Amino acid sequence: DEGGGTPTMMTGHQNHANHVNMVEVAKLTGDISAPADIHYELVAQKQEVTFASGAKIEAWTYNGEVAPELRARQGEMVEVKLMNRDIDKGVTIHWHGYNVPNAMDGVPGMTQNVVNPGESFTYKFRAEQAGTYWFHSHQQAAEQVRNGLFGSFIVEPSEETASYDEEVTLINHNWNTDQGEKTAFKDQDRVQKMQVKPGKIVLLRLINANNQSQKYFLQGSEYKITSIDGTPIRQPDRLSDQTAFRLAAGGRYDVTFTMPNHPVLLKLGDSTDMEGPSVVFYGNLPPDPISFKAESSLFDPSQYGKPADSELTSVTRFDREFRMVLGNRLGFYNGKMNYLWTINGEVYPHTPTLVVKEGEKIKTTFINKSLSEHPMHLHGHQMTVLKKNGKRVQTPWVTDTLNVNPDEMYEVAFIADNPGMWMDHCHILDHAAVGMTLHLMYD
Ligand code: C2O
Ligand code: CU
Repeated sequence: DEGGGTPTMMTGHQNHANHVNMVEVAKLTGDISAPADIHYELVAQKQEVTFASGAKIEAWTYNGEVAPELRARQGEMVEVKLMNRDIDKGVTIHWHGYNVPNAMDGVPGMTQNVVNPGESFTYKFRAEQAGTYWFHSHQQAAEQVRNGLFGSFIVEPSEETASYDEEVTLINHNWNTDQGEKTAFKDQDRVQKMQVKPGKIVLLRLINANNQSQKYFLQGSEYKITSIDGTPIRQPDRLSDQTAFRLAAGGRYDVTFTMPNHPVLLKLGDSTDMEGPSVVFYGNLPPDPISFKAESSLFDPSQYGKPADSELTSVTRFDREFRMVLGNRLGFYNGKMNYLWTINGEVYPHTPTLVVKEGEKIKTTFINKSLSEHPMHLHGHQMTVLKKNGKRVQTPWVTDTLNVNPDEMYEVAFIADNPGMWMDHCHILDHAAVGMTLHLMYD
C-alpha cells in the first residue's frame, strides 16, 4: 500500500499547515490532476553488479541496475512509483536540477516521509524543462548515492529540433569495488567502443554522479558544449579538442561533435591510464589504439557563447541579498570529533535560513574560505551566475550546481518562483552531511 502516503510537511511548514489554503497546496504539489502520460516504477534494492573489468560491487540500485535512465518528453505528465524492497534506512527520489513542485522534491522529513522497506511513494509532476538531469535518493544521501541509488532523467524537447543524429547518456560514478576504487560509466569501467557514421552529429549527455568534480577530455574532433545543467547555451562556440572541461559534482553538460573520418576519444581526466573508463567513437575503420595528449586549456563557461535573455543581470535591483561564507573547522558533530563544513561559521541546522517571498529576485554571494571545492546545489530553482571574484562574467550562465573553488567568490541570482521549503547544500554529499546545508523558505 502507499506507505509514503500524503507528503507531510515538517519543520517550518507544520506551523502554518492549518491555514494553508487550497491554492497554496496546489502550488506545493503542482496541478497533478491530469492523467499521467508516462509511468515508471522503480524498486530500490540491493544488487551485486559486476563491471567489465570483473570488479564487483554490492550496489544499492533502482531496479537492480546501475543508473537506470528515465525518459520523458517535455510537457508530459510524469508519474514514478518508488517502492523500497530492502534498503533498511528508507529511500526517496530527488529530481536533481528539476523544478518539481515542492511536495515532489524527495527530501525526507521535509517534503515527504522516507519510504521504508515494503512501502511506496508516487512522484507526479509535469516535465516542463527539456534537457539532461538525474535523480538520486535524498535519504542519507552521502551513503546512498555512493552505493548507487541514482539514475539519469532525460527530457526530450517537445519540438523535434533534430540537432543531432545519435545520442548517448554517459553518467560517471566512483565505486568502492572488491578490487579497490573504480570509476565507471554506468557499469563500464573499461574502454567502450561505439560505431558512428562519419558526418553524423553525436550528442553526449554527460552527468557527473561523482562526489567530486570530474575532468573530461574529448579528443579527435572539435566540439561544442550546448547545454549546462539542462539549460541550452545561446550560440555555443566551437572548442578545440585540446580544451578539457570540468563538471561539478552533480553537474551535467551536453556536448556535440560531428563524427570525423578518424576516431574520437572521450576520457575521464587526471590520468593517462588508457585502460580506464573511456569511450572511443569510430567510423568505418576499427579503431587503432588511440593516443591521448595533455590538454592545453580548460573550458570556462563565463566566456562562452552569447548571453541569453534574462531578467537577472548584474544591474538588477534585488529584493534580497544573502552572503554565504563556506568554511571548515574541527568540532563535535553527533557526539564525534569531526572535520566540519560550515556556512557563515555554522553547521546545519544552525546555518542561516534564506527566507524569501514569492516573485522576489534574490542574489546570493558564495565565498569559499576553505581548502576544498564546494559544488553548491540549490533545489527547485535555477541560478544565474553574474559575477566571479567581483567581476561581471562575460556570459552569465544558468546552473543548479555551481562549483566554488577555494578562494573563489561568485554572485548568483534566482527568481523565487517555486514556493515551498528547499535545500541548498554542497554536493560533495559528505560535506552536506556534516554541516554544509541550509534551507530556503518562502514566507
Ligand atoms: Cu542532488 Cu540535495 O541533491
Ligand atoms: Cu563541500
